[in-house]
Amino acid sequence: MGSFNWVSLISIIFMLVTTPILSASSLSSDGQSQIPSKFLNFAKKGEVFDWMVGIRRKIHENPELGYEEIETSKLIRAELDKLGIPYKYPLAITGVTGYVGTGKPPFVAIRADMDALSMQEMVEWEHKSKIPGKMHACGHDAHVAMLLGAAKILKEHEKELQGTVVLVFQPAEEGGGGAKKMLDAGTLENVNAIFGLHVDPKLALGEVASRSGPMLAGSGFFEAVISGRGGHAALPQHSIDPVLAASNVIVSLQHLVSREADPLDSQVVTVAKFQGGGAFNVIPDSVTIGGTFRAFSKESFMQLRHRIEEVITGQASVQRCNATVDFLENEKPFFPPTVNHEDLHDYFRRVAGELLGIHKVKDMQPLMGSEDFSFYQEAIPGYFFLLGMEDKTLGKLESVHSPFFQINEDVFPYGAALHAALAASYLSEFQHEVPIPEGEYHDEL
Ligand SMILES: *[C@@H]1O[C@H](CO)[C@@H](O)[C@H](O)[C@H]1NC(C)=O
Repeated sequence: MGSFNWVSLISIIFMLVTTPILSASSLSSDGQSQIPSKFLNFAKKGEVFDWMVGIRRKIHENPELGYEEIETSKLIRAELDKLGIPYKYPLAITGVTGYVGTGKPPFVAIRADMDALSMQEMVEWEHKSKIPGKMHACGHDAHVAMLLGAAKILKEHEKELQGTVVLVFQPAEEGGGGAKKMLDAGTLENVNAIFGLHVDPKLALGEVASRSGPMLAGSGFFEAVISGRGGHAALPQHSIDPVLAASNVIVSLQHLVSREADPLDSQVVTVAKFQGGGAFNVIPDSVTIGGTFRAFSKESFMQLRHRIEEVITGQASVQRCNATVDFLENEKPFFPPTVNHEDLHDYFRRVAGELLGIHKVKDMQPLMGSEDFSFYQEAIPGYFFLLGMEDKTLGKLESVHSPFFQINEDVFPYGAALHAALAASYLSEFQHEVPIPEGEYHDEL
């Protein structure tokens, strides 16, 4: 979890230096920017749409888990090559960053995640996952296709860009903290702001939703082994039963949010894994439980972490068991909360409003889900939003992480155009505000 003080410090500096100044060239006579609608029209062209659909289907057929996105990354680089867009590779094992524009500041980043989930696809269709037990059930295949769509739009309009757009294709969003590794690899050096999106099957096609400030929770995982002594199920006096002890541990964990946390400070503790025993008449030696915890502030998050450990070991010992608790921080780093920058919220509403119509830009309540986009937002001002895909005439879409999850591909022009418009307009509006150290950036690209 990163420090909030750092974020607020950046926010203050950002507010001081980035009072928007509109550059005259990007405005029409009525004061509206022409960029958003021009980009959307381009993205809706048959050949651009079909190209994005083709990319997405190829990735969907060959899903790859976090840090194993070898073919996905190769496909992205091949498309960037065809577009004539230079890139850096590898970053964070499979990550790629492309560069469109002047090669000079200001820099603005737009991001997509590349990894799939370990689950079996249950949708029967022509482009079903060809890899048993792996599936793009979180829309990252669509995210990649839309970011490439944005790359195409931006390349087509490169002469109009008043700075550089950094295209961030990152690995391992699903618990692996790929964003953190991309940051550590220097992806956002000299970058002034970053935008990211997630498809939403419950929001109408052509609508977006987001909010200023905390939007998604910080999250962590835990796993505990509760050990007793196994034996005959009919002679419990000769055993130390870890099944009953683990059951009491789980019940006690539910007191953390209901009895110890401020009811107005949203938190979650869920035990989602319970493994132990294999026979009806044998008490096992040990039981393994595991789950996740969520909170919006660093203090609440660290308090939960501390108490989860205490409650598991304490409650296990009440029943003569021993327990070890592992927070798996190496494989699954804690995600900070996703906190949208206040100024970027106003900026987003304006650009998205020009592209979609302002009544299609919704405010949303925070969700307890999490996103590793939050790592970027700890480093620089960032903005994350949900992109609607629901078309009632086509039927209901299943939620993300369902084996029946499907993408409404009609969303692609919106996602691509939003990415591109947010980046391009940002460059023209903020370019006068960023100090330009002579020549320093050019070589790097
Ligand atoms: C718990 O740990 C203690 C100290 O290592 C050990 O003596 C005891 O046998 C353990 N109890 C169980 C149920 O594993």
